[in-house]
Amino acid sequence: MNTVMITGCSSGFGLETARHFLDRGWSVAATMRKPDESLLPASERLHVLSLDVTDHDSIAHAIEAAGPIDALVNNAGIGWLSTFEGTSEETVRRIFETNTFGSFEMIRAVLPQMRAKSDGVIVNVSSSVTLEALALLPVYTASKAAVNAYTECLALELAPLGIRTRLVLPGQAPATRFGSNAMALMGQADDTPEDYKPFVAQVMSAFGDTAAQEPTKPADVVQAIWRAVTDPSCPLRLPAGADAVALAA
Ligand SMILES: NC(=O)c1ccc[n+]([C@@H]2O[C@H](COP(=O)([O-])OP(=O)(O)OC[C@H]3O[C@@H](n4cnc5c(N)ncnc54)[C@H](OP(=O)(O)O)[C@@H]3O)[C@@H](O)[C@H]2O)c1
Repeated sequence: MNTVMITGCSSGFGLETARHFLDRGWSVAATMRKPDESLLPASERLHVLSLDVTDHDSIAHAIEAAGPIDALVNNAGIGWLSTFEGTSEETVRRIFETNTFGSFEMIRAVLPQMRAKSDGVIVNVSSSVTLEALALLPVYTASKAAVNAYTECLALELAPLGIRTRLVLPGQAPATRFGSNAMALMGQADDTPEDYKPFVAQVMSAFGDTAAQEPTKPADVVQAIWRAVTDPSCPLRLPAGADAVALAA
């Protein structure tokens, strides 16, 4: 039986991906910051583990508790929609700690066991915003573009060791908690100077119009992650959702 470890399973893509793998007979190490609040159905094949991707010790404990891992899905992430000047150094670091360095540390922790058996799959969830330049997204896009860049290099290093590496690029998916979590963080930390406010209002209104078009569905992302893990012939980059597929084309 195969085991997948997924980060950020409390909601959104991570929760739905965990359900999908469970339904197909996999063992799932579903990790989240608050395991007591898991929404996953009880199963003998489900192992709900506490894991914060910014906390080295919690990563080590979860990897040890999970046992052998065949596939790692780095899904945990936070959003941020603000001007460059309105984003403090502390917030920039927080976003990179979660979206970029979190996946570094997860991969560092699973590679020894995957290398030992010359087998394994690593899937990094990035974003379609890396495919086009958008205002108010310099920091979030940078954190995900770094993921794209290192994943592509890593794929070259790991392929000779029998380890596959893939990127999933979801489009805009309003159905998850991503937007509300980002808004909460922005409410605490956005410090955009007044001069930007008319432009920010204009951009936010344009984002609203785009969101009303065909959004990415969590199921699109789940399918892309499933394919990335189970289909060795799939390409390195998998856009997920109609908007992401159109952008990639
Ligand atoms: N929704 C979109 O429009 C969209 C588009 C492109 C890419 N993405 C990417 O897709 C991934 C999943 O997002 P989603 O839409 O499913 O959003 P979501 O519903 O907000 O889920 C994000 C998950 O990441 C977890 N997380 C955040 N910080 C963490 C940390 N330090 N350690 C461990 N887990 C942490 C959250 O846990 P808590 O419940 O503890 O906060 C939550 O489980 C993210 O990487 C995001 O950047 C989303």
